[in-house]
Amino acid sequence: MAQNVGCTAMAKQTLSAKHRRFKELARQHGTPLMLISRSVLRAQIDRFRRALPRVEPFYAIKANSHPEVLKAMVAAQASYDVASVAEMDQVFAAGAKAEQIIFANTVKPAESIAIAAKKGVSLMTFDSEHELDKIAEHAPGARVLVRIKVPNVGSIVELSLKFGVDPADATSFLIKAYKMGLQPAGVSFHVGSQCTRLENFIEACEIAAIIARDARLKQLPFEIVDIGGGFPIRHFDYEDDPFDRIAALLRGELDRLFDKHIRVIAEPGRFMVGPAATLVMSVIGKAIRENKHWYYLDDGVYGSLSGQVFDHCKYQFKYLRSGHTQLSTLAGPTCDSFDIIARGEDVPELQIGDLVYVENIGAYSTASATTFNGMPMAKVLMVP
Ligand SMILES: Cc1ncc(COP(=O)(O)O)c(C=O)c1O
Repeated sequence: MAQNVGCTAMAKQTLSAKHRRFKELARQHGTPLMLISRSVLRAQIDRFRRALPRVEPFYAIKANSHPEVLKAMVAAQASYDVASVAEMDQVFAAGAKAEQIIFANTVKPAESIAIAAKKGVSLMTFDSEHELDKIAEHAPGARVLVRIKVPNVGSIVELSLKFGVDPADATSFLIKAYKMGLQPAGVSFHVGSQCTRLENFIEACEIAAIIARDARLKQLPFEIVDIGGGFPIRHFDYEDDPFDRIAALLRGELDRLFDKHIRVIAEPGRFMVGPAATLVMSVIGKAIRENKHWYYLDDGVYGSLSGQVFDHCKYQFKYLRSGHTQLSTLAGPTCDSFDIIARGEDVPELQIGDLVYVENIGAYSTASATTFNGMPMAKVLMVP
């Protein structure tokens, strides 16, 4: 909505520079507005490379595939993890080359495998014999990584439920790949998204190292360990930021477990883009129900806050107003009662037209947003 904050109480409060900027941008562009910072995107990729110098990041574009985000990644010379032909086309359109792409969906339609091969994308993951059959037929000679099941304990999003072979079977899968004329390039895993448990990364690397040794003993050309995504970010101000601690230990473990000739790659999504975005919304309605304030916002669970459902994410809501707070409910704009964003939130009394914002919301937000009920998706604005 176009911004309309005319309340006297509000005018009396002094706004920080950040809040003044949000007001100005909301006035110019309307809300909901997703602000994505180019400098934070760049800082995240630089931070990843500094902390894990041996690891090549393949940005998992499923986290946020906005063309401007992809352009920023291309400018930073990242590589890409894509899950579909559509994602492959998006990274090609942004300027990526075939050798910078891993097709990291272990279950792919046969036609997609053929299209990938035609486009020169030869690195892909698999976790079943049926997938190997398809790859051998439609992308002969492809380089394949066997995805193994690893502990996802405590990760916010569990990713070993649906995917991965038992690590004990990994070498025999690589041998099968070899016999089918494919290049058994190595192993991949995912410790679960938003993984703050360091042990998940270490245990998975230890398992991968055993497979690497076994594969080498069997004279397979094992060359790549793909440590997946899962690198955590800070969603709330009061949390600590666990990335540097995890990366410091992981760095040492990678050197201890894998000899220099093994290439280590990763598929970070959330880490790259999560901290780069802020969602600015407006209050479009309010009511008192059962003695509680309800505030209706112009974005919700069917839109940019869909991560609450699909990403199991909790968000920290922030306000331009300060002062006395009351336990209140925040709801989205659609006609569905499911579209309730937060209950029992401490919220200062808001007026229609007030802004509400959420930081660190760049990953798995607009990526899974819909226009249910005809509600427009948040406008994306790139900012310095
Ligand atoms: C295969 C694969 N790679 C990478 C990612 C990115 O994970 P994250 O955003 O936790 O870094 C995902 C997330 O679902 C995934 O499924």
